[in-house]
Amino acid sequence: MNADEMKKQAAWAALEYITTDGVVGVGTGSTVNHFIDALATIKHRIEGAVSSSNASTQRLKDYGIEVFDLNQVNEVAVYVDGADESNHALQLIKGGGGALTREKIIAAVADKFVCIADSSKRVDILGKFPLPVEVIPMSRSYVAREIVKLGGQPVYREGVITDNGNVILDVHGLDIMEPIKLEKTLNDIVGVVTNGLFAMRPADVLLLGSENGTQTVFANK
Ligand code: A5P
Repeated sequence: MNADEMKKQAAWAALEYITTDGVVGVGTGSTVNHFIDALATIKHRIEGAVSSSNASTQRLKDYGIEVFDLNQVNEVAVYVDGADESNHALQLIKGGGGALTREKIIAAVADKFVCIADSSKRVDILGKFPLPVEVIPMSRSYVAREIVKLGGQPVYREGVITDNGNVILDVHGLDIMEPIKLEKTLNDIVGVVTNGLFAMRPADVLLLGSENGTQTVFANK
């Protein structure tokens, strides 16, 4: 079974968490694309979706699923999204697809965050995957210098503009031993919009596609 088949398996398993008549939070990425395909099969059971990217919005609309502005919605019962890495506390690195800011906003609103991923995403220590940081364009060099002081090696993701009109620095060389502390420290740098550490608000459950079926993983705190 290849990684994409494992992603698909995890994505379809997430249907079990969808509540009838609710608004579903939808993330971004190749795993979520499988989830949107799955969601389309039960679209009559949901009110609609809120989306974390223009790409996911388009895919949802192509299936005829209504996409609401988050400000129109009082409650998001479940948010389903992928990850680039997850540790044992279900703290994540996200943002490989550049949608981290809207993803973090919907995760904050949601009652339950269901993360879907293939088994390669499970790690002991976060940081092998370069940590994405979305920054206001004029602050890029300043933020990069501040990140170097913290021990990271920021690389400008050239040619990428986020859905919010910002740019991304991918930070290499971090062994993230204290994810919450680093998430807060990065947030404190002027010019940073969001960083891809989802530690203050981790996932509630991780559905991990593997050779032996989909594993349901809860946080090991
Ligand atoms: C998008 O910005 C990311 O946070 C994705 O959730 C993450 O990169 C996982 O992507 P895949 O599902 O494509 O592996």
